[in-house]
Amino acid sequence: MGANKDIESYLNKVFLKDIMEVLKELPDKSVDMVYGDPDYNVGVKYGDKSYTKNFNEYIEWYIELARESMRVLKDTGNMFLINYPKQNAYLRVKYLDEACYGVYDYAWVYNTNVGHTPKRFTTAHRSILHCRKTRDNKFYKNNVAVPYKNPTDRRILKNLANGSTGRMPYDWFYFDLVKNVSREKTFHACQIPQKLSEMLIKSCTQPDEIVLILFGGSGSEIEICKVLNRQYISAEIDEKYYKMILDRLTKGLIEEKYKLRLKKYEIKNIERQLTLLEEQRKYLTNNRRKK
Ligand SMILES: C[S@@+](CC[C@H](N)C(=O)[O-])C[C@H]1O[C@@H](n2cnc3c(N)ncnc32)[C@H](O)[C@@H]1O
Repeated sequence: MGANKDIESYLNKVFLKDIMEVLKELPDKSVDMVYGDPDYNVGVKYGDKSYTKNFNEYIEWYIELARESMRVLKDTGNMFLINYPKQNAYLRVKYLDEACYGVYDYAWVYNTNVGHTPKRFTTAHRSILHCRKTRDNKFYKNNVAVPYKNPTDRRILKNLANGSTGRMPYDWFYFDLVKNVSREKTFHACQIPQKLSEMLIKSCTQPDEIVLILFGGSGSEIEICKVLNRQYISAEIDEKYYKMILDRLTKGLIEEKYKLRLKKYEIKNIERQLTLLEEQRKYLTNNRRKK
């Protein structure tokens, strides 16, 4: 499919379009990384819009998205798809395991105040599927290495002497959700923390390489590409988010008009939670002193 135009004409552009249309135009094996954080089909409203479908229809759409993405990915490329575990499990079994050289299911874990139910454990992680198209995928440990936990261990000392900058991160990552009071928060309904997307982008690309950000959203991942000097291609179907992305990229900051305006009761709730946290902290400190 597609492949009418040269990839150059798509670079460093965001399209106000359905990503499927953009994908179908892109040439085969033309991008170094695909990064996808789609709507998860759990009823989220983006302002007045919702993309929720019947579950089977959603999975068919998700498979088609992954199939086209794999087509445009270079043989040395990597694809990361973020979703809730069930959606990613279906995609993996129904399509990815056959189509990829390797598929790895990572977990992004976070603390949450919502989703608590009395009859099951609380969902507090998302699945990130990492797909290697071939065994020759590029992966840059030194871009993402974390400090060794036991740097005085003899084997670690040897690694350090041989130039190692640290260990490969584990396949689970802790990053706080983007909170309403975070510096990077906008009026967008669901944002991925920039520290997380930064780690994924750095793990498999170098400056000037091409990252296809399937869903523009608030522009958080596209901004990371710009800061890291990666070339990007992206699409966003909703005009209000599209405009925010363009402004964010041009001005290098999130203008006040795009920031989340908290309602009075939300500010009161946050203040109450901060007071409770402070009380808990004092209680724990006092208890520790008594012991
Ligand atoms: C989960 S959000 C992505 C948020 C993003 N990761 C961030 O941190 O800002 C999904 C986005 O995809 C957009 N969207 C939904 N369906 C789309 C489609 N078919 N093509 C392009 N964008 C779409 C929605 O408007 C929404 O902004």
